[in-house]
Amino acid sequence: MYEDNEQLTQTGPLDARDAPNFCHDLFSFLQFYQLIARPNSFPASLQEKSGSNAFWVNWIDGEPALVLLGAEAEKYVLTHSSDFIFGEGGGYHIIAREMFPQGVLTSDGEIHDQLRHAVLERLTPRKFQQEDCNFLLQCMAEAFTSLSGRVNILKLAQDITFKYAIYLALSTEGEDKLLVAKLKKLWHSFSLAAFDIFRQPNNPLLPYRYAMQSREKLVEILKGIIDKRREMPPQDDILGQLMQVQYPFEQNRKLTDEEIINNLLMVIYAAHDTTTNTLTFLFKELERHPDAYHHLEREIEDKYHPGEPCTPDSLANLPTLAACIHETLRLHPQVSPLPRKTIHEMIIPVDTKDGSIQLYRVAEKTLVFLMPGRTQRMQEYYPDPDSFHFERYQQRLTTHPHGKRYEPPFSAFGGGSRSCVGEKVAMLEMMLFVVEFLRRKRIISFWQNPYIPTMNGPLIHPFSQSIAIQDRRS
Ligand code: HEM
Repeated sequence: MYEDNEQLTQTGPLDARDAPNFCHDLFSFLQFYQLIARPNSFPASLQEKSGSNAFWVNWIDGEPALVLLGAEAEKYVLTHSSDFIFGEGGGYHIIAREMFPQGVLTSDGEIHDQLRHAVLERLTPRKFQQEDCNFLLQCMAEAFTSLSGRVNILKLAQDITFKYAIYLALSTEGEDKLLVAKLKKLWHSFSLAAFDIFRQPNNPLLPYRYAMQSREKLVEILKGIIDKRREMPPQDDILGQLMQVQYPFEQNRKLTDEEIINNLLMVIYAAHDTTTNTLTFLFKELERHPDAYHHLEREIEDKYHPGEPCTPDSLANLPTLAACIHETLRLHPQVSPLPRKTIHEMIIPVDTKDGSIQLYRVAEKTLVFLMPGRTQRMQEYYPDPDSFHFERYQQRLTTHPHGKRYEPPFSAFGGGSRSCVGEKVAMLEMMLFVVEFLRRKRIISFWQNPYIPTMNGPLIHPFSQSIAIQDRRS
């Protein structure tokens, strides 16, 4: 992470079991909830209390988790992905085990590699260029043209990103509008499962029960689609790719329908909710920061003549837009905590307040949490960390208060062999959304309230958000 590692002093290694432990605090059973609901302020308060960037908290099932803050730990853990497990017991499984068990996110070893490879086959920038861009341009033209007055930006983003996620997964186009609408209605109720920490399928007062009922209906529809597919030649979508996956070490064993469906649900969740939330935060940040908004507006006006179509190539050269999305993901990373579990004992470097590095000996089978929601707001990496400054990204290296030059930590898309497979298409999709929207509409309300209300599950989800707009022609 630092430009010149020679400069760093290292101490230790300390046994991580001796790191400050908050598992025995009064209310420690609620720590998992705070970690999800307050991904910046809660770890910041424990960091302040303990004076350390490594400490223990309780996770959902009562298992202690070692929280590691700071750039060094993040870099180390993410680049050593193969030394961690993710599936059963790996941290994500607690949230995902009923929603999408055995999915790419919650599996390990060879089957993970094959599932990951299958999904990635459909998510290339080349395919975006050839097919996805036209699909999205058409969806956006339909959705944006007639908008006026106040617009619910969350709902608008939801509409587009859901259609695109279904298109990637199942190749649906115009004639399947009814199917997409039906899936979307069920999806809305299904995705609430992620917010219900009690997970009691039989309690009629909690959303979990209804979420799981919607899941059953989604499974039924997807099962019907798979049955039809088996009679057709292979298709070039995520379903088509998953149907080809050969189970490792078992001859002629392909994925079962249930395994395919779990992966489809997982990918739709990963593709739709993350981009919706990020776009909503981005528009709220633009609404609060007229300087950034005007800069971006000018960049788009200069780049495109009226009537000139937006092409994927042209998106590559919009530095202000890329920087605004980056800054949004820095302040509002969708996944925090990023969980991992060690396979064997490891020595993990963690940076300290005085600029040196403390090594920690971490035992095998330890649940380890990185917290991008906190690390990406630490003063030593990002001066004025809670403010939106898209200009930060004009310089790659920054100077640490202790004089070292470093690349600021950024892990909104995770890292290593488990990094987000949708990063490239997500960036293109979000850039296209902003360009197409701002070429048609102008934001006219500038709202300075620093607080954006959120409802936090495994992802950080802004509440329904509206902005005032005007047609560009008027
Ligand atoms: C703003 C948009 C997005 C954000 C912020 C985001 C973030 C992430 C993060 C943080 C992870 C976990 C990485 C780790 O543990 O190291 C992840 C994994 C994943 N994401 Fe995304 N994601 C986004 C969009 C997408 C899209 C559009 C797709 C699919 C079309 C997608 C598919 C996946 C999949 C399949 C995984 C699991 C990868 C694996 O375990 O090997 N994501 N994403």
